[in-house]
Amino acid sequence: MAIAERTEQTTQGELLAKADRFLAGGGLGLFTLPPDVNLVIREGHGSHVTSVAGKEYIDYHLGSGPALLGHGHPAVTEAVSAQLPKGTTFYFLNEHVLRLAERLVEAVPCAEQVQFTGSGTEATFFSLRVARSLTGRPKVMKLEGGWHGMHDYALWGTVPARPSDYPRAQPDSTGIPPSIGEDVLVAPFNETELVVSLIERHAHELAAVLVEPLQRVLKPEPGFLEALRDVTRRHGIVLVFDEIVTGFRIAWGGAQERYGVVPDLATYGKAMAGGFPMAALAGRAEVLAPLDARRTERTNLAWASGTLNGNPISAAAGNAALDVLSQPGVYERLQRTGARLRRGIEESGRRHGFPTQALGEDAVFGVRFMENEAPRTWMDLQAHDKALGLRWGVELLERGLLVNPNEKFYVSIVHSDEDVDRTLEICDAAFRAVKAAG
Ligand SMILES: Cc1ncc(COP(=O)(O)O)c(C=O)c1O
Repeated sequence: MAIAERTEQTTQGELLAKADRFLAGGGLGLFTLPPDVNLVIREGHGSHVTSVAGKEYIDYHLGSGPALLGHGHPAVTEAVSAQLPKGTTFYFLNEHVLRLAERLVEAVPCAEQVQFTGSGTEATFFSLRVARSLTGRPKVMKLEGGWHGMHDYALWGTVPARPSDYPRAQPDSTGIPPSIGEDVLVAPFNETELVVSLIERHAHELAAVLVEPLQRVLKPEPGFLEALRDVTRRHGIVLVFDEIVTGFRIAWGGAQERYGVVPDLATYGKAMAGGFPMAALAGRAEVLAPLDARRTERTNLAWASGTLNGNPISAAAGNAALDVLSQPGVYERLQRTGARLRRGIEESGRRHGFPTQALGEDAVFGVRFMENEAPRTWMDLQAHDKALGLRWGVELLERGLLVNPNEKFYVSIVHSDEDVDRTLEICDAAFRAVKAAG
C-alpha cells in the first residue's frame, strides 16, 4: 500500500500518539495545543487548512506568520515548481537569491545590502555579532517582552512574570550560561525615559539595541522608537529592528515605513520567503562591512555562514510572494480584513460581558481579556486573563478556527469577506459558550 493511502487510513488519534512517542515534547517546539483540540494538518489551501480527521479550519496562525499569501498560493507554487527540477541547493550564487536581495533593498528603508540566513533566530543572533564586531563593544540591549528567537542572547526577560531588575533580567530557558546575562541588558518597552537613561549609562559598552518595533501585540508609543533612534545614533550604538513579524506584513516597507523610523540594521524572515525557510539581515553597507571577507582582515571578520543561506527554492518562493505583495491595493485590503476582524471580535466579546481587546496592528493582532484599555508595557499585559484566553481559544478551535490561544491572529491577503463573516459568528458562539460554562 502506498504511504499516502496508509496515512489516509491512520486516524488523527494514532498520529498524535506517534507524535507523543517520537517527538520531544509531542510537538514541534514550545507550543502544543491542548490534547482535546490538538490536530495533525493534512493540507492547506488559501486561508483554510484541513486536519487528517477531515475537519476544516479557517487559519489565523498561518504557520506562525509566513503564509501571508495563504497556503499554496499559485504564484509561489509555480515559482517553486519551476525551480525544483533545476536543483534545490547550491551554496553558490543563484539568480533567485540575487533578485530577492535586490527586492529587499528596494523595499526596506534601512537596506543597502543583505545577508541571508536560514532562520529568524540566526538573523537576530548574527545582527548582534555584527554590531559587536563593528563597535568593539561587548553588550547588547533588548526590550522586556521582545521575542527574537531561541539563541542564548535572545532569551532574557522575554516572558517574565515579574518586572526585571533593569537592566538585569532572568533567562527564559534553562541551559543558558549565566555569564551571557552579563552582556544582555533588558529594559521595559515603551518606558522611554528609563530606556534612554539605561542606554546612556551603558553606552560605552553597548554594541546594539535590539527591538521588535511592534512588540508582539504592543504598538510603540509615539516618540519611543524615535528616542531609541536618537540615543543610539548619538552614542554610535547599532539600532536593530527585528522585523521578522512586521516585515512585508504591516506595510510593504515593514515597521520602518509604518512608524517612520529607520534603524541601522533590520532582520527579516517569515513572510519574506513566501512560507519557505529563509531569513535575512538588511542594513547599510558600512554596518554590514564586518561580514565582507574580501575587504575585512580575517581577524576583524564577523562570521555568518550557513549551508542553506542562499537557497534557491526559498528565494524563488520569496520573489514570487513579493511580486504578489507589491501589487497595488494589497495592503489596503489586508488592513481592511484585519480591521473588520478586530472590531468584530471586540464588539462581540464586550456584548457578552468580557473586557475584550484586539491589540496590535490590523495585519497581526492579539486578543487579550483585560480592563486596562491601553496596555503599554510587557508588565501591563501581564494583567490579561490567560485562563479565559485559553478557554475562548479552545472554543474557537472546536468550532473551526485555527488559532494559538493567547498568542496572535495572523491575517492573510486571501482571507475573504465570507471567512470574516464566519469567523465573527464563531467568535460570538465561542464567547457565548465560555459565558454559559461560567
Ligand atoms: C520577532 C521575531 N523574531 C525572531 C523570531 C525567530 O524566528 P525563527 O522562528 O525563524 O527562528 C521570531 C519567531 O517567531 C519572531 O517572532
